[in-house]
Amino acid sequence: MLELIDVQKTFNAGTINEKRALNGVSIKLEDGDFVTIIGGNGAGKSTTLNAIAGVWPIDGGSIIINGKNVVGDPEHKRAKYIGRVFQDPMTGTAATMEIQENLALAKRRGKARTLKWGVTRREKDEYRELLKMLDLGLENRMSTKVGLLSGGQRQALTLLMASLQKPDILLLDEHTAALDPKTAAKVLELSDKIIAENNLTAMMVTHNMAAAIKHGNRLIMMNNGKIIYDVKGEEKKNLTVEALLEKFEQASGTALNNDRMLLSRNSEM
Ligand SMILES: Nc1ncnc2c1ncn2[C@@H]1O[C@H](COP(=O)(O)OP(=O)(O)OP(=O)(O)O)[C@@H](O)[C@H]1O
Ligand SMILES: [Mg+2]
Repeated sequence: MLELIDVQKTFNAGTINEKRALNGVSIKLEDGDFVTIIGGNGAGKSTTLNAIAGVWPIDGGSIIINGKNVVGDPEHKRAKYIGRVFQDPMTGTAATMEIQENLALAKRRGKARTLKWGVTRREKDEYRELLKMLDLGLENRMSTKVGLLSGGQRQALTLLMASLQKPDILLLDEHTAALDPKTAAKVLELSDKIIAENNLTAMMVTHNMAAAIKHGNRLIMMNNGKIIYDVKGEEKKNLTVEALLEKFEQASGTALNNDRMLLSRNSEM
């Protein structure tokens, strides 16, 4: 389904700002795998997701999706099989457009990007059903401008939009970090549901260790541009936050340097 083989990425090569962000990242995901990713600041978590999405070219290695090396494919081409949700609730949706118009745009992604024919009746029925699944009452506010929604409502809508074209892969980069704990928990629950119902292969970066343990079937830890720990199944389920911190120190030889992860170590998910 998704395989990274020895992926390398250095930013600003040959300058004083040179930064080796990915230093041989290899991982093979199975269909339907849901991997949570934790690690220190600057460990390469976002860079890994950006490499998969094709935000810029990588320097070495392969990225195999459904048996095909996509390294040469530009971002817009990969967008057909990759859905993404970012940390900032403002980035995934168009504030000045209605909820239903946002959904229609997401639906037409990769096709002619126009709303010339408006949102059809049939689409509206479809969107209403989808919005019901969020359980936020948005199905009764389909002509509301997205700018009027709360951050959590917008992230929930962005998730729905990211899954609308039935991607194979869903990439979530701290997509609940800007939300209050209760809303974050709700959006995480919704993420589980959307991933399961659409049988997506998913990768989710989170700074919340409890969330990384609770969600998904596999957990990886990154440090200095490398995967230093990879755990799945029962072993993952039985992890504790304390055990994770210990694993981190063992595998990296240093204490975890991610302030937000440490601050959230006691928060429940
Ligand atoms: N576009 C870029 N240009 C230059 N340097 C970059 C770029 N993107 C990332 N980097 C650098 O690459 C390293 C890895 O960054 P990355 O964003 O992947 O970290 P992260 O693990 O997501 O950390 P955080 O928890 O802080 O979000 C960092 O040193 C970062 O400064
Ligand atoms: Mg990041």
